[in-house]
Amino acid sequence: MSAFKPAAWPRKLRSQEWFGGTGRDAIYHRGWMKNQGLPHDVFDGRPVIGIINTWSELTPCNAHLRDLAQRVKNGVWEAGGLPVEVPVFSASESALRPTAMMFRNLAAMDVEEAIRGQPMDGVVLLVGCDKTTPSLLMGAASCDLPAIMVSGGPMLNGYYRGERVGSGTHLWKFSEAVKAGEMTAEDFMEAEASMSRSPGSCNTMGTASTMASMVESLGMALSGNAAIPAVDSRRRVMAQLTGRRIVQMVKDDLKPSDILTKAAFENAIRTNGAIGGSTNAVVHLLAIAGRVGVDLTLADWDRLGRDVPTVVNLMPSGKYLMEEFFYAGGLPVVLKMLGDGGLLNKDALTVSGGPVWDEVKDVRNWNEDVIRPVANALTQHGGIAVLRGNLAPKGCVLKPSAASEHLMQHRGRAVVFEDIDDYKAKINDEALDIDENCVMVMKNCGPRGYPGMAEVGNMGLPPKVLRKGITDMVRISDARMSGTAYGTVLLHTSPEAAVGGPLAIVQNGDMIEVDVAGRRVHLDISDEEMQRRLDAWRPTVAPPASGYARLFHDHVGGADTGADFDFLKGCRGAPVGRDSH
Ligand code: FES
Repeated sequence: MSAFKPAAWPRKLRSQEWFGGTGRDAIYHRGWMKNQGLPHDVFDGRPVIGIINTWSELTPCNAHLRDLAQRVKNGVWEAGGLPVEVPVFSASESALRPTAMMFRNLAAMDVEEAIRGQPMDGVVLLVGCDKTTPSLLMGAASCDLPAIMVSGGPMLNGYYRGERVGSGTHLWKFSEAVKAGEMTAEDFMEAEASMSRSPGSCNTMGTASTMASMVESLGMALSGNAAIPAVDSRRRVMAQLTGRRIVQMVKDDLKPSDILTKAAFENAIRTNGAIGGSTNAVVHLLAIAGRVGVDLTLADWDRLGRDVPTVVNLMPSGKYLMEEFFYAGGLPVVLKMLGDGGLLNKDALTVSGGPVWDEVKDVRNWNEDVIRPVANALTQHGGIAVLRGNLAPKGCVLKPSAASEHLMQHRGRAVVFEDIDDYKAKINDEALDIDENCVMVMKNCGPRGYPGMAEVGNMGLPPKVLRKGITDMVRISDARMSGTAYGTVLLHTSPEAAVGGPLAIVQNGDMIEVDVAGRRVHLDISDEEMQRRLDAWRPTVAPPASGYARLFHDHVGGADTGADFDFLKGCRGAPVGRDSH
């Protein structure tokens, strides 16, 4: 229930600890700011708004964010605030090695300390590419100053020879087609140019679009934020309105902890089911919840998402892209459908200062093939399935809407890859003893095993299987999977192999049973044999000697709790520290 009561205004804000008064320190702080041409009266106690920007030319999905930052500034000025743009670490999904996920927590630390240590009263978080969204929200949530998010928006549709081309999804499809001999390398390169034809993030319901939908359903962005294309003029309007809104949020003292309640997370989890969202949302929402002290678990994901129909017909689960989702009405339509179906906590508070239902109750669906009526859903049982068993005592996840119906109950012979290098070395070998009924198992790709838990769980199939026209097999690993990927893929297996989880002791030829309806994954060996192998197991992944990689190794938690650092969980607030001058 939203019981938010706005704070009294005017009152003294934290930025006045730097800028207020006539003493030497105040003159020092104001004086240096004035070298940017700021007049004296902008330091009169008005809200100072940090525009936290993940702009980077090596994060191409966020390369247009400086333009959006300017629109936010316009809005802040209009509402009587003082905008200051602050760059932070930008974790690029497409370019950063070994994986952007290894740097999500680093970026969250950067954001948290950038906010805490500097004169800001509220923040606008400019995000886009996959990890930039959770990292900024995690950092801001730990500070708990008023915060609002603006996503950069998705790219326009790609087209190749008349066919819609989805970011990532068609990269996987085309690369499998090349391996199967159905597409030439030259055609693949021609298709490359058609995939990313405008600024913005991936245009499928991949992780970027999923996380943009998550922040909207959590109530942390203005209604409609998720789907407006990056180049649509309405994206700029939304940025400007966001700038206006944050000034009022500071005056009202409307903070992330007011919005990020258990009810908000429940809305987000159900939304993820309805949109056929990325499995990456599981680890990110668990981590965000950990920052605000909300008790969210993998069991919540399974319980809340189990009966949510997937109605959004977007790749990788369906056929359309984010541009069409926007034209159909975008996420507000989905939230309305959830509310009509009794699956939305209607009173959950949003950045608007009111309940989410007020924003969506009157919207219309403009295209019922893009956002399907429940009776014609892509699947009646969307969401994220959490499977457990002796192979995954702390759980693993599967996305039913992207999996194959005929593999949802399966028993097969394990073909084991000790790590990603072992997989790459063997998968194209025609002598590899594997067929379509086997279960592909990959170890040592979890948070510690492949530092950061890379998106390699959707292992490509062996060429000799692809040539038979087979496009899916059961695959199990402790890795993640790109939100743009698909297949009957069990991910995030916990505990991971690198810390001695049962995945580590699977051997070639073992039989594995997967029962998605029964939420069970089972390694068919005796308890005694399991114990004998676990007792004999020794770590194979050496800790990095130094640097951030060592910090990561020593402090990252399991995927089942969000893979955050143990020392970063919780909300530390944003107290104003001592002046050093
Ligand atoms: Fe940046 Fe997909 S690679 S959003």
